[in-house]
Amino acid sequence: MGDLISIAKTEQISPGSGFVAEVQDKSFAVFNLEGSYRVIDNTCLHRGGPLGDGDLAGEIVTCPWHGWEYNVKTGACTNNPAACVKTYEVIVDGSDIKIEV
Ligand code: FES
Repeated sequence: MGDLISIAKTEQISPGSGFVAEVQDKSFAVFNLEGSYRVIDNTCLHRGGPLGDGDLAGEIVTCPWHGWEYNVKTGACTNNPAACVKTYEVIVDGSDIKIEV
């Protein structure tokens, strides 16, 4: 098992929205799916747009730069089936959102 790190607080992310967490020189996109938290790499595979700043509709986030779409549960890119961003196991501990790295 890897290390657990705290990347955000639950109160920082409203339901139906995302958040960019910069931790240990890495950038994570954290999403609140109606109280269930999901974490993927923040960097869009197209040209590096910040996925945590994208609009969330259901499970799909749209990159704010050029509109590529990703499923925040699976990391799959709907525009490019060969592309997938990394997903992380999430543990909510009180108000801390933690992931295993
Ligand atoms: S950088 Fe994300 S769609 Fe272009």
